[in-house]
Amino acid sequence: MADDLSFFSKDSFILKLPKKSPLVLRMVVLLFVMVCGVYIFSICLKQISTSSTSEFLNIGVIQKPCPEPNIEPWEIPYVHYPNPKTFSRAECACNPVRYFAIMSMQRSGSGWFETLLNNHTNISSNGEIFSVKVRRTNVSTIVETLDKVYNLDWFTSASKNECTAAVGLKWMLNQGLMQYHKEIVEYFNARGVSAIFLFRRNLLRRMISILANSYDQNAKLLNGTHKSHVHSPLEADILASYKPVINATLLVPNIREVEETTKKALEYFKSTRHIILYYEDVVKNRTKLAEVQEFLKVPKRELSSRQVKIHKGSLSKHIQNWNDVEKALNGTQYESYLYGDYRRTQEPTGWGTHQATLLKFWL
Ligand SMILES: *[C@@H]1O[C@H](CO)[C@@H](O)[C@H](O)[C@H]1NC(C)=O
Ligand SMILES: *[C@@H]1O[C@H](CO)[C@@H](O)[C@H](O)[C@H]1NC(C)=O
Ligand SMILES: *[C@@H]1O[C@H](CO)[C@@H](O)[C@H](O)[C@H]1NC(C)=O
Ligand SMILES: *[C@@H]1O[C@H](CO)[C@@H](O)[C@H](O)[C@H]1NC(C)=O
Ligand SMILES: *[C@@H]1O[C@H](CO)[C@@H](O)[C@H](O)[C@H]1NC(C)=O
Ligand SMILES: *[C@@H]1O[C@H](CO)[C@@H](O)[C@H](O)[C@H]1NC(C)=O
Ligand SMILES: *[C@@H]1O[C@H](CO)[C@@H](O)[C@H](O)[C@H]1NC(C)=O
Repeated sequence: MADDLSFFSKDSFILKLPKKSPLVLRMVVLLFVMVCGVYIFSICLKQISTSSTSEFLNIGVIQKPCPEPNIEPWEIPYVHYPNPKTFSRAECACNPVRYFAIMSMQRSGSGWFETLLNNHTNISSNGEIFSVKVRRTNVSTIVETLDKVYNLDWFTSASKNECTAAVGLKWMLNQGLMQYHKEIVEYFNARGVSAIFLFRRNLLRRMISILANSYDQNAKLLNGTHKSHVHSPLEADILASYKPVINATLLVPNIREVEETTKKALEYFKSTRHIILYYEDVVKNRTKLAEVQEFLKVPKRELSSRQVKIHKGSLSKHIQNWNDVEKALNGTQYESYLYGDYRRTQEPTGWGTHQATLLKFWL
């Protein structure tokens, strides 16, 4: 203690300090703590504010610079500005994009229809993506696949990429569409996806096409390769040279089953924005394609396909047991299928009632 005192008493200046020192020290410490606190707080604030402003900036980059499209209020949920991970939409970043799905059944003309759509510079229809089973194992894989397609990150020969104004796929009813209909309808309505139903009116012609196509999977009539669609009349004639035998007993029940499935699909998806097309109508009347382009809100173009029809003309020459088939359908509501030709401008007789049964679910 004495040592300490003598040390402090050496200089009055030094001696004065210790008296004040507890207060000064406390003040210094307090000030230091305050400065530190303010500093730490300001850093925290800076981090919070930079992260939030960058988030706002990101949203701004996607949405702000694009001018409001000139559309009606009901259309807003169906207009999208995808931000693909794999490329930049460049000069078309502000072109609105519509989402669609062509919902159909095998051998209903959807392949041909899709080539017509893909002939449009602004339409990308990416084919039968869900023909690959793993993509439809469960709802999560379906949603994941759809997200990728609609975000323009799915690449096929049909992808138009940056200037796509309508993007979609072809989806068969038996590729998870009926099984997971509830979740898919939810997805369509939440994400603003429009459905294009494409069915075939003449289900007898469709059956011949199925049987012939399935036969060719093994027979491979075209120089040893199986083809579902052809591009020349010669190839079409070769494929049509096979005449299937139709099980007459099962014919009516089979047709009825297809009708039931069609009705069910229309019922399931009635809450989605949709259009219903029939293959025969598109073949007969090309203004149907203008209607489709209007539905997808893309600029109207003349569309063409290189595909050639395989089974042309009267059905009697395409079926081996024509007499049995004729007998089986005679007097039924499906009689018109026997003679109905896709080239006739008039509806085949009897179609009215058939159509009415389908339309009943829409009116
Ligand atoms: C559309 O079809 C025409 C005629 O076949 C062809 O010249 C044109 O390049 C096609 N357009 C697209 C985008 O495929
Ligand atoms: C869905 O299927 C995928 C692939 O088979 C699997 O990895 C995933 O766990 C499944 N998800 C659910 C929710 O079942
Ligand atoms: C259609 O594509 C062309 C380029 O191929 C592009 O200039 C045009 O803006 C696109 N139209 C729409 C409506 O996106
Ligand atoms: C099959 O191959 C031959 C010889 O290569 C060719 O001349 C013919 O056009 C081919 N036929 C079809 C239908 O592709
Ligand atoms: C038609 O199918 C039924 C049921 O599968 C079968 O019993 C019958 O033998 C078949 N008829 C012909 C001619 O193949
Ligand atoms: C062709 O289709 C359009 C639109 O769907 C329709 O208004 C027109 O009456 C049809 N024309 C014929 C000849 O069926
Ligand atoms: C269809 O049935 C009617 C009456 O049942 C019969 O007179 C007619 O010959 C049948 N037509 C054919 C093509 O079998």
